[in-house]
Amino acid sequence: MTTLFIHIKQLIQVREKGLLKVSGKDMKTLPFIENAYLLIENDSIKDFGPMADCRSTKADTIIDATGKIVMPTWCDSHTHVVYAGNRVQEFVDRINGLSYEEIANRGGGILNSAEQLQNTTEDDLYKQSLARVKQLMALGTGAIEIKSGYGLTVNAELKMLRVIKRLKTDLKIAIKATFLGAHAVPKHFKDNKQGYLNEIATKMLPKIKDEQLADYIDIFCEKGYFDLDDTDFILTEGKKYGLTPKIHVNQFNAFGGVALAVKHKALSVDHLEELNENDIEALKNSNTMPVALPSCSYFLSIPYTPGRALIDAGLPLALATDFNPGSTPSGNMNFVVSTACIKMKLTPEEAINAATLNGAYAMDYSNDLGSITIGKKANIILTKAIPSFHYLPYAFGENCIDKVMINGEFIS
Ligand code: NIG
Ligand code: FE
Repeated sequence: MTTLFIHIKQLIQVREKGLLKVSGKDMKTLPFIENAYLLIENDSIKDFGPMADCRSTKADTIIDATGKIVMPTWCDSHTHVVYAGNRVQEFVDRINGLSYEEIANRGGGILNSAEQLQNTTEDDLYKQSLARVKQLMALGTGAIEIKSGYGLTVNAELKMLRVIKRLKTDLKIAIKATFLGAHAVPKHFKDNKQGYLNEIATKMLPKIKDEQLADYIDIFCEKGYFDLDDTDFILTEGKKYGLTPKIHVNQFNAFGGVALAVKHKALSVDHLEELNENDIEALKNSNTMPVALPSCSYFLSIPYTPGRALIDAGLPLALATDFNPGSTPSGNMNFVVSTACIKMKLTPEEAINAATLNGAYAMDYSNDLGSITIGKKANIILTKAIPSFHYLPYAFGENCIDKVMINGEFIS
């Protein structure tokens, strides 16, 4: 047994056991303790409280963090961090006037990434992805969801999911895997979308189940990609193999995908840049977490998810990066939190709740992660000396992180 004792200026996101998410007005509160201690035993949080109540400071290691803040690591519930190469040329093309849609219609976009991934070995894909995951861990992320969806053939989708499985085995960071075969219709099924959907249902899903490669099922429910019937079909098929839905919806158009996802008891609905009253109504009285991806809005110059409207309607909200080569080549949750405050008008308390506990919920991790709670995993960010947690989103672009601990160990 090893123990670590930290004396801290401000310990934030302190929660009782059993709280799985925060919604509506409750998101305005981020419980914290000033002049606090945190005791870690092996990989878990053993105890914490105000220094004044501390009975013993005995531990194998003692850290004096009296000018610093400790908080749970970020929980990034939406990434595509396993990908090959990059799409830098499309970035330049967009600056020169082409739209994301125009690039996709020319065979770029997701199909460009699919081609690059087809030509990359599993080992190389693993190495490229490992480097990205290590980078985001250093930025304070302690749990991520990773999607497939740049394979679009049986073998390439399996290649992606096996890489995710290897990352899970090799790294301490908590990882959930999502099968996103229905990310785009591949070239070899052009004009035969149903043929591709059948391939997903009859060839991909059974293999994924055999090798236990995924936790969730996703689909890009969007004009020009997959419609409501396709979404209904894929979510139904996925559920036959035990995969819970967690879908891309309302990125560019709102046409009923949110209500459909809620009907399928989706764990989360992600993007929501275009949102109407019916979508908000559908989310009320559901257990589905709305997820906003503000760095995608930033990078593509598209509207920001109306997070204010969701929270003001009493709903919860989670924030994630969407780290991917096309719409968000960044896995920086600190930037996401800042951008949510600056562009979506979330308060720092709301944004931090959205990026920790609610992010954990959107990966079924809130029993173990997302808050400072006795018994949860010791996944913490130790900041540099900063005035208060409000400074984190305020000082956008500044790296306020001193150390990151995952499962009780500081990462180097
Ligand atoms: O979430 N919208 C769909 N999928 C990804 C990006 C796809 C890409 O451009 O590679 C997203 O933004
Ligand atoms: Fe995405």
